[in-house]
Amino acid sequence: MHDFPDYFLTLLPNHNPISMKRILIVGAGGQIGSELTVYLRNIYGGHNVVATDMRECKALGETGPFEVLNALDATAMASVVARYRIDTIFNLVALLSAVGERNPQMAWNVNMGALNNSLEVARQHHCALFTPSSIGAFGPTSPKDRTPQDTIMQPTTIYGVCKVTGELLGNYYHHKFGVDTRSVRFPGIISNVTLPGGGTTDYAVEIYYEAIRSGRFTCPVPADVYMDMIYMPDALRACVELMEADPAKLVHRNSFNIASMSFTPEIISAEIRKRLPDFAMDYDVDPVKKEIAESWPNSLDDNCAREEWGWKPEWDLSRMTDDMLAHIRTKLGR
Ligand code: SER
Repeated sequence: MHDFPDYFLTLLPNHNPISMKRILIVGAGGQIGSELTVYLRNIYGGHNVVATDMRECKALGETGPFEVLNALDATAMASVVARYRIDTIFNLVALLSAVGERNPQMAWNVNMGALNNSLEVARQHHCALFTPSSIGAFGPTSPKDRTPQDTIMQPTTIYGVCKVTGELLGNYYHHKFGVDTRSVRFPGIISNVTLPGGGTTDYAVEIYYEAIRSGRFTCPVPADVYMDMIYMPDALRACVELMEADPAKLVHRNSFNIASMSFTPEIISAEIRKRLPDFAMDYDVDPVKKEIAESWPNSLDDNCAREEWGWKPEWDLSRMTDDMLAHIRTKLGR
């Protein structure tokens, strides 16, 4: 039995009450995990959020429990879940799209291995499971603009193949075994704490660092390609709001389109230039990233997330740009 009250009085911005949870984060040292760990600990209490990663992460051990865990070791994962009496797992392990194309077998083994173990451990230990999907689950045959929730999904990257398979597996575990699986299709996530690595949308993070560091940026993605993006605070809130949503209202589960902003490299660079008039950008287009970016939607239709669990973004490109530049200035001491 858990030794904490059933109900906890924290309110989310949309005024949903928060239930009590004991959470395991798998892959907590990455771009999402390093911030989600702290965010969840502020809501649910430090000792109720166990961060794990394959490498030691000192910072994550300062605000709550941290364990070194290889997500491909199902026995080790089950043992952490049992020891901490976990009831909710966030599986954040993934090789991103561009790096996945360099080693597709490894991307499949890591992305699907971590997911498969998380699903099995969730089934055996009666845990809810959150796994991110992505705009990368769509492909060149999907409708390009305001891509619908339910539509053609034929991705051409191994990353996307893993995401679509993961969505199907998540729904299968829900229907077959009753596991409470939930997921969102994240746009490119922009943040200022931990850098993403090996993704196609990474340019939209790197551009802010280079704007402050050197005043110039060489962009690997073509000037006019639109992709959906989201600022980390909205992404973190989406995770919590979906996992706290009333299951009776969820028609979909794996996975919800969410959206907040869509832009091209030219648009984000113009936004930076409004604040730093001397900022200059040129292009050295990476053919792999070009092909991937052009195969993904320009923008997603997130109406189902809005209707089924009240999703609403709070950050747009202009506000995010102010915030990113301020944080990175402080971080780099400029
Ligand atoms: N940010 C990811 C990537 O670019 C997409 O989800 O690979």
